[in-house]
Amino acid sequence: MFVEFNIAQQIVKISELLNKTELKIFDYGCGSGKFLKGIENIIKIIKPKIKLDILGYDIKNYNKYYKFSNTLSNDNYDIKLCSYCIHHIERRNHLEVIKFLTKKCTHTIIVEDERMFMNMCKKHLTLSSHITNYKNIKSQFYTKKELLDVLKHSNNKILYSSTIYFKWPFHKSRLFYNTFYYNPTMIIITKN
Ligand SMILES: C[S@@+](CC[C@H](N)C(=O)[O-])C[C@H]1O[C@@H](n2cnc3c(N)ncnc32)[C@H](O)[C@@H]1O
Repeated sequence: MFVEFNIAQQIVKISELLNKTELKIFDYGCGSGKFLKGIENIIKIIKPKIKLDILGYDIKNYNKYYKFSNTLSNDNYDIKLCSYCIHHIERRNHLEVIKFLTKKCTHTIIVEDERMFMNMCKKHLTLSSHITNYKNIKSQFYTKKELLDVLKHSNNKILYSSTIYFKWPFHKSRLFYNTFYYNPTMIIITKN
């Protein structure tokens, strides 16, 4: 919830910077849509006049909350969001995805688990079905400095970056039932 609240505040700031009350958002790797829907619900409380016009994109369609497309959009957006998705994509395709995320939009919001999280959850990630194909799972993740450098080298101006730690029970199996980790989530916003 802290992450969603933080992003809701940043989206309000972006709406002020752009002087717009309706923001067009592309959600890359949207999943069920629950994450951005949660952010939208917070915005409805803290700044009700702001409306989000959202298009979700994912390789799988299980979005329950807003418009969805299974092809990449060529339209212009105020914001492209990519939350917890980059580490699911093979490293060799990351630059291409980042290029898409930072083009044809004024702002990009990237939300990612830091590599430290991967080290803590290595066991879970090894077991996790959707990423078992990747031999070098570590290379899917970044430290904040690395991700900032990738963005800067692609000529993107960093507008905001922060790391939020939250207590997370990473595995529901009995073996790890009482084990909690502090999951570092990084939030990076670029002005493109
Ligand atoms: C951990 S979920 C994150 C979902 C959502 N963004 C959120 O924050 O809750 C990762 C999502 O990335 C999607 N994904 C994986 N590889 C992808 C790719 N190459 N292109 C688009 N989406 C992808 C998966 O289908 C999954 O829905």
